[in-house]
Amino acid sequence: MKNGSETDERLEFSWPGKREAREEALLPPTSRLVPCPEESFHWDETENLYFEGDNLEVLRLLQETHAGKVRLIYIDPPYNTGRDFIFCDRFHSNGETQEKVLRKTSGKPLHGPWCSMMLPRLILARNLLAEDGAICISIDDHEAAYLRLLCDEVFGPENFVAQLVWQTKREAKGIPPKLMCVPNHEYILVYARTQNFRFLGDPRNVQDGFSNPDGDPRGPWKRQYLQRFGQGFRVRSITNPENGMVFSFETPYTEEKMAQWVKEGRIIFPTSRDKFPARKEFFGEYANPFKPIVTSLGLFSTKVGSEELKRLFGNVKVFDYAKPLDLLVTLFRRTIREGIILDFFSGSATTGHAVMKLNAEDDGRRKFILVQCAEPCGEKTHAAQAGFAHISEIGKERLRRAAMQFGTLGIDSGFRVFKTE
Ligand SMILES: C[S@@+](CC[C@H](N)C(=O)[O-])C[C@H]1O[C@@H](n2cnc3c(N)ncnc32)[C@H](O)[C@@H]1O
Repeated sequence: MKNGSETDERLEFSWPGKREAREEALLPPTSRLVPCPEESFHWDETENLYFEGDNLEVLRLLQETHAGKVRLIYIDPPYNTGRDFIFCDRFHSNGETQEKVLRKTSGKPLHGPWCSMMLPRLILARNLLAEDGAICISIDDHEAAYLRLLCDEVFGPENFVAQLVWQTKREAKGIPPKLMCVPNHEYILVYARTQNFRFLGDPRNVQDGFSNPDGDPRGPWKRQYLQRFGQGFRVRSITNPENGMVFSFETPYTEEKMAQWVKEGRIIFPTSRDKFPARKEFFGEYANPFKPIVTSLGLFSTKVGSEELKRLFGNVKVFDYAKPLDLLVTLFRRTIREGIILDFFSGSATTGHAVMKLNAEDDGRRKFILVQCAEPCGEKTHAAQAGFAHISEIGKERLRRAAMQFGTLGIDSGFRVFKTE
């Protein structure tokens, strides 16, 4: 019997049309960009860009001007749910249309065509990233596994950073599904361009459990317990100099260190022996104003996000798949303070809105580049009834409305529109 290394078997990630998809990334652009100052906002002052056109073509065009210049790419591609998958470019494998493929598979979307759509875009996106840049991709369980494999291939498994998870709603509502299980989370898959990427972290906040009940002149503090049970640390003792009460517990801290903290007035002793002393951790003594982020980002209700967007558009529901604004504000805040953020599946322009909101909040110097194709708004949609012919028009209008909110706060709230022709 042959052992593993002598057989022709190997781990492979392949699908019909993969080679052609890869070749798409090598093709030169076939169109040019036409400036549209009349659809732009503060054309002369702004560095933000809005490209209307197929993102594959725009990514090809950006290779010449923006290679290595983008600090962060955030994208929210179609999740391949069977309803959301559109192609503005030439179709993938053996010339079949998505509609035909769907009919053949009785409505269940195939992974191959989706991978064919994503692969050339990811390859081109990678070239745009700066050395210390990263890409964050929103996804759900339909394609999360395939996206991870695609990203391993394009960015390298060593550049995997995290699979962040966020909660979309608190509880299941409506008719119970057959399996009696309702997903209430999505992912944001993060890959770095090189090993030079770091999250900025989460700004430390004095409101996060710090207070000063004893009026300590060193400022607000919070309790850090000294004991660590079950981790193999030695039992060590600390004495309360006021009453001689001794406390013994497993801890990584030496007795000398703890005695020094007692002298410095940093230890709070309990009044009874069944409790443990704690160290005062002062807010003002952190050398780093940021703490590490955790991969679970928390709850960002999609319903609340949709309501906010609806309100911005005078109570008209113009777009169904917008990401919650604060989800992107949180992600960007934890990632970069300056530099370009690119979103080439920008939809209703939540990314641009979030950049403006965050810059206004923290005085950051982030710029945005958004790409959105002129996908028509369905005839019967509220958007069409409100006069929006294409999704890109919704995106541009949202940016104008956001600029009205934040433009007076000294941030770059404009954007220059270009269309592919
Ligand atoms: C899930 S939505 C993004 C929603 C966005 N994150 C928001 O918060 O509004 C995906 C968007 O990508 C757009 N899109 C799909 N294929 C595209 C392509 N080839 N070029 C440009 N945009 C495309 C769709 O029209 C849709 O607006």
